[in-house]
Amino acid sequence: MYTFEPTMGQDKASLYRDLHEAAQALTADEPDAIANMANLAALLWQFLPDLNWAGFYRVVDGELVLGPFIGKPACIRIPFGRGVCGAAAASATTQRVEDVHAFPGHIACDAASRSELVVPVLRDGAVIAVIDLDSPLPSRFDPDDAAGIEAIAGAMAGRI
Ligand code: SME
Repeated sequence: MYTFEPTMGQDKASLYRDLHEAAQALTADEPDAIANMANLAALLWQFLPDLNWAGFYRVVDGELVLGPFIGKPACIRIPFGRGVCGAAAASATTQRVEDVHAFPGHIACDAASRSELVVPVLRDGAVIAVIDLDSPLPSRFDPDDAAGIEAIAGAMAGRI
């Protein structure tokens, strides 16, 4: 049994430090990418409040394909450049969207989603996946969330 518990009421820097440590520990001895993405999705879901979707899209043959996640069933294939995930993959940069309704081409997998954070995972300079977090709250994600997830994406690039 794994018992990674976020401490209640901790500040965001501590939360992301704990999350990062848990991600490292959970994936350290496991070479299977799917298993690691599945546990990482569960960990993000457990540690980060106010999410309605947390998971991965993987780059397969030049498009994004749904990977392990927690949340409602989602769009399976997303071309580079489409939606928030496609924008992150095409630009290899984090997309932090305060209001998804104002994002041109946003793909609504869950009508409840109001804000979104998508962080590319790069290996040897190429995007191999994106981490997608959705929230039913507008402006749920701030620059500290983006930096925290980017650090995890960087650390996990060789394990997913
Ligand atoms: N909203 C995303 C699609 C993926 S779902 O949110 C899980 C987008 O616009 O790319």
